[in-house]
Amino acid sequence: MLKINNYIISIYRFFKRILRNQIQIKETLFFLEIDEYRKKNRFRYKHLISQKHTSWYENFERANYIMQIAQPNVVVDLGVDHGFSTFAFAFANKGKIFGIDSFEGDPHAGVRNTYDEVIDLHNSLMKEFEIADVQFIKGYFEDVAKTWNNSIDVLHIDGFHSYQAVKNDFETWEQFFNPNTIVLFHDIVSFKQTVGKYFNELEGFKYKFEDGCGLGVWSTNEKLIRQIGYFYN
Ligand SMILES: C[S@@+](CC[C@H](N)C(=O)[O-])C[C@H]1O[C@@H](n2cnc3c(N)ncnc32)[C@H](O)[C@@H]1O
Repeated sequence: MLKINNYIISIYRFFKRILRNQIQIKETLFFLEIDEYRKKNRFRYKHLISQKHTSWYENFERANYIMQIAQPNVVVDLGVDHGFSTFAFAFANKGKIFGIDSFEGDPHAGVRNTYDEVIDLHNSLMKEFEIADVQFIKGYFEDVAKTWNNSIDVLHIDGFHSYQAVKNDFETWEQFFNPNTIVLFHDIVSFKQTVGKYFNELEGFKYKFEDGCGLGVWSTNEKLIRQIGYFYN
C-alpha cells in the first residue's frame, strides 16, 4: 500500500514539474518578445535583487508580464522587506512605483530593519539599469493611506499574512482603486487559511498562480484578468 502511495505521489510530482516548466517556458518567451534591453539585462538584474531570501523569486517574470498588461501609472507595493517585489515591478519601467513598509519586519517575515540596505540597493540599481522611478515610504500602511491621494493601477498586498491584516490592507486601499485596478495577493497558497481564504471570498474577477507561494490576481475588469489568464492557459 505504501509503495502504491509513493508511486502516485511521484507521478503527481512529475506532472506538477512539467506544468511548472511549461509556465517558465511561456514566461521566457514573453521576455523574448519585449524589448532587447530587458531581454539582455534580466538575468543580472534578477540576480542582484535576490541576494537575500525572498519567497517572491518565481514571480519576477510574471510581474513584468502583468505590468505590460496593466500599463500602470501608479504601482503600490505593500511590503518591501529586502525589496525583491518592488524592484521586480520597477524592471518593467512602467509608471511610478511606491514601496511602502514600516521597515520593522513582522513575525511572519522576520523582525528586522531593511531600510538602509534597500536604499543602497536602489542606488546601485539606478546607476546600472533603466528602471521605473521608485519611491520608498517608511510607515505603517494604514498611516500612509491617510495622506495618500493617488489613484492606484496595481496594488500588491504582501504585508502581515493574517486574515484580518490582509482584509484590512485591501479595504484601506480600496478607496484609491479605479475600474482597471489590478490587485496582487502574495502567499495565497502558503497562507491558504488566511490570505488564500480572503482572496477566495472576494467578489470580482480573479486568476491564481498556484506555484511558489501562490499569487492571486484580482480586478473588477474582466478583460484584464482574461488577458493575464490567456497567456498562461
Ligand atoms: C513578506 S514581507 C514582504 C516581502 C517582499 N514583498 C518581497 O518581495 O520579498 C512583509 C513586509 O511587510 C511589512 N509590514 C507588515 N505589516 C505592515 C504594516 N501594517 N505596515 C507597514 N509594513 C508592514 C514588514 O515590515 C515586512 O517587511
